[in-house]
Order: sequence, then C-alpha cells, then structure tokens
Amino acid sequence: MYLPWLQKYNLLIFDEIDSTNSEAIRLVKANISGNFVIWATKQTAGRGRYGRQWQSDQGNLYTSVILDNNIPITKQPQVSFITALALYDAINSVTKKSSQDLKTFVKWPNDILINDKKVAGILLESITIHKRNYLIIGVGVNISSNPTNVNYPTTSILSENLETETSNLLSVFMGFFDKYLMQWNKTGFVSIRKQWLKRAYKINDIVTINDGSSRISGVFNDIDLNGNIRLKTAGGQIFTLSLGEVLFT
Ligand code: BTN
Repeated sequence: MYLPWLQKYNLLIFDEIDSTNSEAIRLVKANISGNFVIWATKQTAGRGRYGRQWQSDQGNLYTSVILDNNIPITKQPQVSFITALALYDAINSVTKKSSQDLKTFVKWPNDILINDKKVAGILLESITIHKRNYLIIGVGVNISSNPTNVNYPTTSILSENLETETSNLLSVFMGFFDKYLMQWNKTGFVSIRKQWLKRAYKINDIVTINDGSSRISGVFNDIDLNGNIRLKTAGGQIFTLSLGEVLFT
C-alpha cells in the first residue's frame, strides 16, 4: 500500500512504552530533527489532559506525532482542531459509517465522541529547544476497550459494534492529518475552524464549561480565530474561554 505520509514522518513502533508523549519529549531533548510518529501497542504511564491517567491496555491506539516546523506558540492550539478533524474523518472512514449513522462529533476543545460518549482524546504538549518550537500531539483512541472509572461517558469502537485494526486507523488518521495540516499551511485556520464547527458537539445548544475554577453555562455559538470557545449567557453577555472543558450533560 502506498502511504504518502510515511515520506514525511519517521515512524517508530514500540510494543510497550511509558507514554508515547513522554518518548516524544525525550527524542526532542535528544536533538532529533524531522517529523516523527511514535506508535505503541500499550503504555504503562499513559497521560491525559490535566495530569489525568490515560488507561492504556493493549488493543487501543496510542500515538504521538512530533512536528518539527517551529509553529509559533500562539498558533499551536489550532493544531488540536486539525487533529480532531482528522480523527473524526478517520473514525468514520475506517468504520465505513457516515457521521449521521455513528453520531460522531468533535467536542471542544479536543475530544471525539460517538453516540455522546468519548472515544478519543488529544493531548498537545510543546517544547522549545534552542529557540525552535516542537509540537507533540498525543492521540488515544478506544478501539477494543474504554475506561469505566472516569466521571464522564466513554465508549470504544468495539462497543459500538464496529471494527478496525489499530494499524489501519493510525494510517488513515495520518493521511487525513497530513491533508488538513497542508490545508492549514496554505489557507490558515479559517477553513479548519469552519469544518470543525460543522462537526461540533452541542453547537447552538446550551453547554456548561468547567474552566478549572468555576463553571459557566450559555449557548455555544462559536469558536474564535484562536480556537477559544464563545458562549452567550442568558443575560446576553458573550464569554470567551481559552481553557476548560465542555461538560457532558
Ligand atoms: C485526554 O485527556 O483526552 C487526552 C488523552 C491523550 C492520550 C494519548 S495516548 C497517546 C499519547 N501518550 C500519552 O501518554 N497520552 C497521549
């Protein structure tokens, strides 16, 4: 099979590792150059956002992409929207289902849902060495198992009665990721934002956001050109938040 993305990314495969994101950080610190994809069959210390643990048994997809192209720090959050679009398209493509059949959504800022349950998450980490920025994009997709000890609904591709091979999902995801990244390089965030909004969970609906210290509710009506979420409260006030999570309701 011809996989064009393999010409742009060095692929490293591990049977077991602590965390593909941690390995990516070690590689960057060891002065590697070029883009990398690190793929592990299982992780012993998988990490989620906010320092949470990411359950990483064999059978799911655990991968991290290192982008060695000095993306300015202010633009880096945009890459999580590119990643979410690529994951959304990859999941629909490998399961051969339309997004309507599957009820697939992207959830701000960086989760993928099937039937209102989290199936995938993205962890962006950034590191600057000798004034050059490296972006690490960690991706976890529940294929054959999903955590049950978390306080939000989760699912896996298997629990939704669908099937895919981990390697196939990785490859299809990377194809879409590279496509959206090229689009972003050419035309910027405008078209990525538009495509993301079309797939967004609870757009134009009332949501509650936990920003770590407080909760705020309002109608989710947009994301701005930096990827911040915009909420309109009952009083008509617009709130723009850069950090936090849309809660499942
Ligand atoms: C989230 O909290 O939703 C983000 C989860 C990201 C998990 C992936 S699995 C591959 C990579 N390595 C890690 O340790 N974490 C990310």
